[in-house]
Amino acid sequence: MLTNTLRIAGAAVLAVGLLSLNTARADEPDLDAFNAFGGKPGLEKVADLGVEKLRADPRIKARFAGANIPHLKMELAEQFCALLNGPCQYTGKDMSSAHAGMGLHDADFNALAEDFQIAMTELDVPFRYQNVLVAKLAPMEKQMVGK
Ligand code: HEM
Repeated sequence: MLTNTLRIAGAAVLAVGLLSLNTARADEPDLDAFNAFGGKPGLEKVADLGVEKLRADPRIKARFAGANIPHLKMELAEQFCALLNGPCQYTGKDMSSAHAGMGLHDADFNALAEDFQIAMTELDVPFRYQNVLVAKLAPMEKQMVGK
């Protein structure tokens, strides 16, 4: 009787364990990436260095001349963190309003992606985790192009 009860309890624990494993799986690649970046502080470094690369890039630096740089870095770190399912909420403008009137083109996005990839490589973020973030950012382009 006791053995049976233990067996049932054991099976229940296993079932709950498997269930929680299952629900955790959906976010796993994002959370792995979030951790590989070094959490929010690591993403702040990426935002910081990435924006410095943008400001030094002759192709696009003029676009950032009048920008509030500390604010931009802060919003980007928050956005990256939220995109990777970290414990953050993005509190900035939506992408369409944030870039309204800028007349952004494909070439601007390619330059920005390159600069951030250089920053992430310099910060030793493994390539496969760089790709997780880039894959989240790429589809956002259509909200900004031609605005
Ligand atoms: C997927 C691509 C991009 C993402 C995720 C992104 C993200 C952001 C975010 C989060 C903000 C801050 C919004 C706020 O202040 O509430 C912002 C602002 C801005 N972005 Fe982007 N952006 C992207 C592409 C670009 C490109 C290609 C350029 C130009 C080359 C650009 C130039 C700017 C500028 C100039 C600001 C305004 C900064 C200011 O005045 O404070 N962005 N962007």
